[in-house]
Amino acid sequence: NIKAFIFDLDGVITDTAEYHYKSWQKLADEEGLFFNREINEQLRGVSRMDSLEIILDGKELAEDLKKEMTDRKNAYYQKYLEKISKEDILDDMESKLIELKEQGFKIAVASSSRNARKVLKNLKISDLFDTISDGNSVENAKPAPDLFLHTAEKLGVEAEECVVLEDAESGVDAALAANMIAVGVGPDDRVGKAHLVYSKVAEIDFEEILEKI
Ligand code: BG6
Ligand code: MG
Repeated sequence: NIKAFIFDLDGVITDTAEYHYKSWQKLADEEGLFFNREINEQLRGVSRMDSLEIILDGKELAEDLKKEMTDRKNAYYQKYLEKISKEDILDDMESKLIELKEQGFKIAVASSSRNARKVLKNLKISDLFDTISDGNSVENAKPAPDLFLHTAEKLGVEAEECVVLEDAESGVDAALAANMIAVGVGPDDRVGKAHLVYSKVAEIDFEEILEKI
């Protein structure tokens, strides 16, 4: 008996992967680190510091240096965020969200990003959600189930009553670990472990999700 839909933000409601990519690329160039789009794909849903660790690829650096680098990357990223607006909402996601609310479902955002509130504000959809969890809400980032469990608790529903929409492998893993229904958006090699997979956001069909699960 599904009572809530929990949405990942980056890659599900809006597409910020390109901005993350450009920001990491600039940092990597400055630091002489190897980086490309393929590595960027591995950073979907991965927290800021874990992302740097993937880029460093085993290279060890002092904590304060790593902090400075992630802060610098974030400053680049926030420059891009200044430019996003309602037009950056993917496809007809906003009308789909409104429809779910009208049908009586609770809706939430559970994002690894510490910029999630800023992004939602610029997309002008913050008020639609019953609750918003972000990269500051829990200690253990996806693929740990913590962020989704925290969100269910805030919504006052059981984990089994939640459907999670995710575009990242780490996010699908987190949803499954939380004992929720996972709906993946993207290629099978990324989100194939989900209960149901759509190749693109435009294809997500909530009627079908409710029928099939
Ligand atoms: C996720 C993105 O939503 O947030 C990742 O998919 C990103 O690419 C992570 O690294 C953390 O974001 P931020 O804004 O806190 O650096
Ligand atoms: Mg995502």
